[in-house]
Amino acid sequence: MYYFGTYEDRAKNFDWSISEKELEYKAGDVLNIGWYCSDRICKMGKGDKPALLWENQAGKEKRYTYHDVRRASNTIGAFLRGLGIKDGDRVCLFMDKVPELYIGFLGVLKIGAIAQPLFSAFGDESLFIRLNDAQTKAIITQRKHAPKVRKILDKLPALEHLIIIDHDPARPLGPREVAFSLDGAAPVETLDIFPTKAEMPSVLHYTSGTTGQPKGVKHVHYSLIGQYLTARWVLDIHDDDIYWCTADPGWVTGTSYGIIAPWALGATQVVLDSGFSAEAWYRFAEKMKVTVWYSAPTAIRSLMKAGDEIVKKFNLSSLRHLASVGEPLNPEAVIWSERVFGLPFHDTYWQTETGAIMLTNFPGMKIKPGSMGRPFPGITATVLDPKTYEPITEPGRVGLIAFQPGWPSMMRTYWNNEHTYKAKFKNGWYLSGDRARIDKDGYFWFTGRDDDIINTGGHLVSPFEVESALLEHQAVAESAVVAKPDEVNMEVVKAFVTLKPGFTPSPDLELEIMNFIRKKLSPLAMPQEIEYVDSLPKTRSGKIMRRVLHAKEWGEEIGDLSTLEND
Ligand code: WTA
Repeated sequence: MYYFGTYEDRAKNFDWSISEKELEYKAGDVLNIGWYCSDRICKMGKGDKPALLWENQAGKEKRYTYHDVRRASNTIGAFLRGLGIKDGDRVCLFMDKVPELYIGFLGVLKIGAIAQPLFSAFGDESLFIRLNDAQTKAIITQRKHAPKVRKILDKLPALEHLIIIDHDPARPLGPREVAFSLDGAAPVETLDIFPTKAEMPSVLHYTSGTTGQPKGVKHVHYSLIGQYLTARWVLDIHDDDIYWCTADPGWVTGTSYGIIAPWALGATQVVLDSGFSAEAWYRFAEKMKVTVWYSAPTAIRSLMKAGDEIVKKFNLSSLRHLASVGEPLNPEAVIWSERVFGLPFHDTYWQTETGAIMLTNFPGMKIKPGSMGRPFPGITATVLDPKTYEPITEPGRVGLIAFQPGWPSMMRTYWNNEHTYKAKFKNGWYLSGDRARIDKDGYFWFTGRDDDIINTGGHLVSPFEVESALLEHQAVAESAVVAKPDEVNMEVVKAFVTLKPGFTPSPDLELEIMNFIRKKLSPLAMPQEIEYVDSLPKTRSGKIMRRVLHAKEWGEEIGDLSTLEND
């Protein structure tokens, strides 16, 4: 461990200019994340250093040095420019964890366009909502995902290009389709990088809302200042590290800490493009000699479930630092990892909206298993009284997690939705939508979300989105979607449905509805259980009370039912 100083030492006189200085950035300069993550590292003389070591399920390997990443991102950038993509245009990256996703992300940023990564398991409906909202101009995808785009092309007049990175030449290209192969394209040695300034948009990440459709979280190039320093201090990434972030860049962890931060630091990162299996993960960590590992509680719980014996089959002595994000990390998981790896997982808390780590356990800081740790230096965090929105001063009382706005990587707005953005602030605080208590030592303890959003295995699913999709099924009259407890994923989606006349409840119908959602939205959003009911609990004004069904699932007190219509 390279830890220097205590938490107090680092927090004292903290200023984000520490990060600016290390990145040799001055206010008003050009700041382009794509350049920082490739060209700058080459300029520093590290062009021959491995930037990306990639492997897929079939054991196929690819390696890219920083020079390779620089050239390949130039190549993609030049290709996009050739199609007429300009600064400010939205370009969606809709791929599995293939190298083109990581490198293409930089290519999009280098020409000043806005990268819009979307999870490749999304179905056509999830995709349509997000591409339509962003008025996306081009989408880069693999041929196996292209049919989902083709299905909605007619409804998306703004989407001018469907770029397929592994097109089968035997098949003719359809309307608006274009083939691009990174291996086949002539490498572009130099590219005129668009001179983006700090406040220009960089990334648009869609995240689930409680009531409306998903919201596009707009980030700017200046976010790098926060992502860089948090990765250096919290994830403790150093020059000689082999870093593994297991998150998919369809989600914010996979971009902030799975592309931007590690490459801006000039580290070597490794990517395993395959589904989860404890054996495959350990084998990969051993083979790549991973030193720093950033993962999520659901994965850690799955590893725990696979047992201690399997760990002994591998040599994981390269591991030096472990961190986690996305959902509550149970104390047992921290204790377990200390036992089997000799290292605790350091919990970190943040959100798509915050762009970078906000609450954290530094290496070297005393870990209290089960706590999310303390605010990153420069971050003013508190819990607010839910009625007055005033900070709670006595330790141990639960309130709403809130941050003082103004940190570098904070979202700048929700795309086309300034109204909802503004509603995130009360009394000058940014409201996270989560609840916690702070103990007498200033450690934050997560107690739950303050809304109905379901966090399944670290992925946020909007009940509203699932309910809307359910209504499109011919048999469903009404539905209410809530979280149901799950041993590994903490929460999974459960749907209560009433059927239209003429349909009768059956296990077959349940399966059919589940698959309907899986295809339309994603496997994450697919209800793991459908319960047929005669009616749903509603308020007098007819609003479905998810809270009642949620409480039932979790064996909790239902609370005030006085507004229930059919009670
Ligand atoms: C939850 C992921 C408990 C929380 C980076 C937050 C956590 C949401 C933790 C953001 C943690 C994240 N402990 N809960 N350490 N980290 N969460 O936007 O509810 O996909 O608001 O960003 O995940 O999820 P998002």
